[in-house]
Amino acid sequence: MAKSNSFSCNACGASFNKWSGRCDACGAWNTIVEEAPLSAGPASKSLGGRRGSPIRLTDLATEEAPPPRTNSGISELDRVLGGGLVPSSAILVGGDPGIGKSTLLLQAAARFAQAGLKTIYVSGEEASAQVRMRAQRLGLADAPVQLAAATNLRDILTTLEAEKPQLAVIDSIQTMWADNVESAPGSVSQVRAAAHELTTFAKTRNMSVILVGHVTKDGQIAGPRVVEHMVDTVLYFEGERGHQFRILRAVKNRFGPADEIGVFEMTGGGLAEVMNPSALFLSERGQPSPGSVVFAGVEGTRPLLVEFQALVAPSPHSQPRRSVVGWDGGRLAMILAVLEARCGIPFTGLDVYLNVAGGMKVTEPAADLAVAAALLSAREDAALPAETVIFGEISLSGALRPVSQTENRLKEAQKLGFTAAIAPAGGKPGADSGLTLTRMGDLTAFVGEVFGAG
Ligand code: TYD
Ligand code: MG
Repeated sequence: MAKSNSFSCNACGASFNKWSGRCDACGAWNTIVEEAPLSAGPASKSLGGRRGSPIRLTDLATEEAPPPRTNSGISELDRVLGGGLVPSSAILVGGDPGIGKSTLLLQAAARFAQAGLKTIYVSGEEASAQVRMRAQRLGLADAPVQLAAATNLRDILTTLEAEKPQLAVIDSIQTMWADNVESAPGSVSQVRAAAHELTTFAKTRNMSVILVGHVTKDGQIAGPRVVEHMVDTVLYFEGERGHQFRILRAVKNRFGPADEIGVFEMTGGGLAEVMNPSALFLSERGQPSPGSVVFAGVEGTRPLLVEFQALVAPSPHSQPRRSVVGWDGGRLAMILAVLEARCGIPFTGLDVYLNVAGGMKVTEPAADLAVAAALLSAREDAALPAETVIFGEISLSGALRPVSQTENRLKEAQKLGFTAAIAPAGGKPGADSGLTLTRMGDLTAFVGEVFGAG
């Protein structure tokens, strides 16, 4: 019988039955590779051939005690995990190379080990001596973590079987190599097989496993996206090079709220927790200047103030530029369109640049009003009143929609010394926060109030 070939995209994991230069699913170039069929070998005949054993069924009402969680003591990490590490859970930590994943996980492994979990750290990328040197630099040389430098999955599983750790860190999933799968380490089938083996092992042996996954923009290494559905928790470690802070963001969590963030600062002695991120994100803010607006945001359960900066200038190009960092470009286009259609303020012939200070990424629609305010302030070359925070969602009609957690946002603003806030009308009244709160129903009213007639 002719061997049936299969091909898959290293960037998005889509599979195809023939090779092509460009992936039809995600549009990436040169990412399609051949892979051995998933179920190769004689052992994998049709499942119908042999009877399985019956599975024990239970009902929903069975009383289940909440899982006993272990805290690392790194509160920014514990909160993102949903309140500590759950036994037998599988966690994926993804992020760009060089962002600090190995540093974070070495620190976490050390702290979990100190908290009493038997912990093994397997590095497939660095020699043990290198990891040890880093541990020394981080002041963690005394932590009772067992190290190994290995990539052969069979050897690793055998070792884990014998050692019975409660936590294993695998750095990284792309370097692991399962000898029963005929493709190169880092390919989608290897990553998938290794992640499957490790998560299944974790579930059945009462061990938690943390997998590190590199995400690269060019798709040369298999994206860990194929692994996301196999694990309980997916955390992304983000940050901009050139900025020292890093955000650990939960994008999926079976044991806690998603969208929770932890904020860290990369220092010479490793990652330090940032207890008051708003202060950090606003630290570079000088005198009030045109185009600068402070947005009172919320990430997960946590209020976070960030500064939006806009620059609006006459464009030398026939197609004016729209450039955004840290915010959604489509959303910017929408706000520009609403400003033009509902308030009669055109941006034609003007280049527009929008930036979130410090390299933070904001995804909340609640930032709409702050973005509109920054754009208007830049266009009119008029600074907004100092010590004012702004938040609110804008609808296509130009109406301002109330957003969640108003009270939380106001409290944080007050804590950081702000004295006034502009928010949408409606929604919950909110307890007295001590701020002068101005509520508005639509964007036209906002433009009139803040920028005169507009
Ligand atoms: P690393 O954890 O190796 O990143 P990843 O595993 O995500 O590829 O961290 C890489 C960067 O972190 C490296 O450029 C140096 C920097 N770093 C510090 O600034 N301070 C430190 O204490 C450590 C250990 C690393
Ligand atoms: Mg690393």
